[in-house]
Amino acid sequence: MTNAPRHIAIIMDGNGRWAKTHNKKRSYGHKAGAQTVHKVIEAGAKAGVKYLTFFTFSTENWQRPREEVTFLMRLIPKTINRYLQEMYENNIKIKIIGNIDVLPKNAQKQLKHAEELCSKNDTITVIFAINYGSRQDIIQTTKSICIDVCDGLVEPENIDEIFFSNCLSTAKIPEPDLLIRTSGEQRISNFLLWEIANSVIYITKTSWPDFNEGDLLTAIDFFNSKK
Ligand code: FPP
Repeated sequence: MTNAPRHIAIIMDGNGRWAKTHNKKRSYGHKAGAQTVHKVIEAGAKAGVKYLTFFTFSTENWQRPREEVTFLMRLIPKTINRYLQEMYENNIKIKIIGNIDVLPKNAQKQLKHAEELCSKNDTITVIFAINYGSRQDIIQTTKSICIDVCDGLVEPENIDEIFFSNCLSTAKIPEPDLLIRTSGEQRISNFLLWEIANSVIYITKTSWPDFNEGDLLTAIDFFNSKK
């Protein structure tokens, strides 16, 4: 078996450009990208990865045209739901990070159900970052620690990196060993800023809908060559 990193985080990029090269609408690219998520979960589990985080919808993605946002808000829960039984049977744990309280009610319900159903599973943890922004997460964490300090529940001198990490939405999830970004752009895009302090970053020109098991293994080889 490949010497896999424990946690791989992925910025899925290039759905829109991929659709354009196929003379299709952006939604076609997102649909194809959703199928890639399913394949990469399978490939990651097979390779021995224990945590896989997908940047599914960022806080910045609300700026996209309304039609596209509406499409993604339907596609994301629909895709998770479609593969839910299979993920449950394959012992996959599902976790959502990000503020999903502002999502359409039906989407919230489906996502919470998926998380709940698979909460006891433990072969691999798949984390979907939805309406997630790392700066927002850091600010939210800081606010809640400030409140605890004011209430006398936390001593400022006890706040260190471990304490802070344990207050983020990614608490209990080990930091990513490897961050993959598809479609060539060299940006972090407000994703896991605190958590990737020591991660290896791998950028591939391959667009997300074309990313496959072979590409994942190439990224893992790259990670192993940096150890
Ligand atoms: C970035 O490509 C991709 C997104 C903003 C959406 C990612 C969502 C999916 C692949 C659906 C996933 C579903 C589940 C269940 C996880 P882009 O549109 O920014 O591409 P572009 O840069 O080429 O325009």
